[in-house]
Amino acid sequence: MSKENLHYYIETYGCQMNVYDSEIIASMLRECGYLETRKIDMADAIFLNTCAIREKAEETVHNRLVSLEYLKKKKPKMLLGVLGCMAQNLKDSLLETKPFVDVILGPDSYRRLPEIINSRNNTRNSYVDTRLSKYELYNDLFPSRKEGVNAWISISRGCDKFCTFCIVPFTRGRERNRPIKSIIQEVENAVKLGFVEITLLGQNVNSYRTEHGSFPELLEAVAKVRGVKRIRYTSPHPKDVDDSLLQVMSDNRNICNYIHLPLQSGDNRILNRMNRTYTREKYLDLVKRIRNYIPNCSLTTDIIVGFPGETEKEFEATLDIMKKVNFDSAFMFKYSARPGTKAEEYSDHIVESVKQKRLERVIELQRQTTLMRNKMLIGKKVQVLVEKESKKSSKQWAGRTDGNSWVIFNKTNENIKDIVDVIIHDAHGVTLFGDRLFKKELANEIN
Ligand code: 5AD
Ligand code: SF4
Repeated sequence: MSKENLHYYIETYGCQMNVYDSEIIASMLRECGYLETRKIDMADAIFLNTCAIREKAEETVHNRLVSLEYLKKKKPKMLLGVLGCMAQNLKDSLLETKPFVDVILGPDSYRRLPEIINSRNNTRNSYVDTRLSKYELYNDLFPSRKEGVNAWISISRGCDKFCTFCIVPFTRGRERNRPIKSIIQEVENAVKLGFVEITLLGQNVNSYRTEHGSFPELLEAVAKVRGVKRIRYTSPHPKDVDDSLLQVMSDNRNICNYIHLPLQSGDNRILNRMNRTYTREKYLDLVKRIRNYIPNCSLTTDIIVGFPGETEKEFEATLDIMKKVNFDSAFMFKYSARPGTKAEEYSDHIVESVKQKRLERVIELQRQTTLMRNKMLIGKKVQVLVEKESKKSSKQWAGRTDGNSWVIFNKTNENIKDIVDVIIHDAHGVTLFGDRLFKKELANEIN
């Protein structure tokens, strides 16, 4: 078979960093002469880019591998690779239950792929590389992006925070920051390819620091790149949000009035046990400062319920702070014990049924708050970046506000990637509904 006929298939699990990494891997595979296929049966090489953040994420991949064993039996020459955080976490122990896996590579080992693929015929053994690097940034590799509106751009890798519940510092290693110059080059490249929104990506974006500047300076430099209509970033750590970051956000129109600010818990003893390095008072004070600098700033968060030792009262402190902040939306999780982390060693784990009940309570509270926040937009003008056709009707667009809420409105003369004014007239669940507002109507509205 000639090399041109070889196809790869990648399935990505977990966070946006994995999506980014899959784009890097895709660009390496193309260099090796592989073409992408979306039909798994056609693939000569299948890669699962995996996540280890919660037990469930790993279970999903285990189950997927069980179903892929069948394909592997049918096509023994097909290469099956497990990449990413679960590969890093389990290393060669994964082979004890899944001996049919050919390649196991952690997040700092993707450069080995071309060599592994090329030497594959010489060996039938499984190949495992899970060494973590202090330096690997994949700086010279440009991700192979599909077309779209938003380009995710990684500015750092790894994490040094060691929150006691989190596996990331172990699977992704020490924090490394990419030079500003290389990030800006990738932003310019993305703009040339037609992307208009940039989301800067890192485990802790705002701890970013290089000899050429810190995160606010990087953000400002990205804001100045011609053609960048919108900038977002995710995720910052509350401890590292300073006034200079808020100042840059308020000074630059194309930086979205939106911050995803992981809270995790509203109780000081739990925050301390989580090693989050802030208190509920400091978090609330930060929210106040954000709203002073950026009055309409949308805030979203991550919450963990049922962390070891969390009493009912401590859980209620989380509900209480959620009511005080009124987050626009939230990702909410039951604590999942990750082997090797400090929290896993705590002796006072919470039973599943209690975690489940607490999860249901935070979800219900957030559902009400999101609806309340969205209803507050009824009658207001928002700016929507048109992203795609609405799933329900080809006569409608779906786009996002500056604050990251989805808006559905009837098509008129606009195109995908335009930013247009929309007046909101309804809110259901997490979605807003509106109508395009034209300049003349706008003048009437204001008069
Ligand atoms: N259990 C539950 N949620 C977790 N997260 C990270 N580790 C765990 C864990 N062990 C959540 C945190 C983090 C988000 C990305 O995932 O809320 O902010
Ligand atoms: Fe995990 Fe904490 Fe680092 Fe976020 S800051 S990746 S939660 S250790």
